Amino acid sequence: MNYRHAFHAGNFADVLKHLVLALCVEHLKKKDRPFAVIDTHAGIGRYDLTSDAALRSPEWKDGVGRLLDADMPDEALRVLTPWLDAVRAINGPGALTTYPGSPALAAHLARKSDRLHLCELHEQDAKTLDRLFAKDGRVKVEKRDGYKALKAVVPPREKRGLVLVDPPFEHRDEMAHMAKAAMDGLSRWPGGTFIFWRPLKDLWAQERFDVGLAEWLFEEHDLKPEHILRADLWVRDLDTEGKLAGAGVVVINPPYTLEADLLAVMDWLCATLKQGDGAGWRVDGAISGDSLSVDEF
Ligand SMILES: C[S@@+](CC[C@H](N)C(=O)[O-])C[C@H]1O[C@@H](n2cnc3c(N)ncnc32)[C@H](O)[C@@H]1O
Repeated sequence: MNYRHAFHAGNFADVLKHLVLALCVEHLKKKDRPFAVIDTHAGIGRYDLTSDAALRSPEWKDGVGRLLDADMPDEALRVLTPWLDAVRAINGPGALTTYPGSPALAAHLARKSDRLHLCELHEQDAKTLDRLFAKDGRVKVEKRDGYKALKAVVPPREKRGLVLVDPPFEHRDEMAHMAKAAMDGLSRWPGGTFIFWRPLKDLWAQERFDVGLAEWLFEEHDLKPEHILRADLWVRDLDTEGKLAGAGVVVINPPYTLEADLLAVMDWLCATLKQGDGAGWRVDGAISGDSLSVDEF
């Protein structure tokens, strides 16, 4: 377990992931009934952008750093506001020094009656996370394998909410692990909203995950393609060596507003976050077994 999210917090991939998370949580708030947010790979909760790690690898400057004070079209402002407000709230007035990871973002957006269940396997990170939420009665932190926990914690007692699965992709077989966990989790809670993050690195593995999951959901749970959305952003040619160039999410049972919200913002987001030639994005509102599209990149 060498992966440290502190080196990447607030980068372009976090921006899209956290935007989707914020939009999903906001949608859940449209009804009064409480909900649960289950974060299987939670990290340390929030990130100090003045830390050694962030100074050595200031990826946030080309992510959240480009967005906070940017002029943006009204539609982009509407869609980005819940996430941007959370970033501003955690920083207060003045410079950007702290970035809310998924736990801090969800905790900011959730209401008193809602609940967060956070799993983090790294010993020290789990302690840091636990300390962060020590006084927040809505939050339970577990030092535990998030994939295994999924079997035990879904469906949540509220029968409403979402699951974020955001592994580090340190190991070659992570996509296969995630697919297995996806099937376990969705078998238990086919009506839940699940957000799966994956890098656009091995494009065949990523396609097999997206399309394989869609096929399985259709066959096993009669879930129609329009219940499976994916959103991806790449900030330069995906062929380029070195740093991550693209990433995105697959969302099962997305809010019905998510596709339109993302379509309203992605052009602007891509133009603002691009780091070189070949940047692009896609939002597919309906994934099915026929959606294989590696050649499109
Ligand atoms: C990409 S980071 C999470 C970032 C966080 N979700 C966010 O958006 O702010 C992945 C985290 O998963 C942790 N991790 C790795 N394997 C795990 C496992 N099997 N179960 C739970 N956590 C794990 C790592 O220590 C790391 O902190």
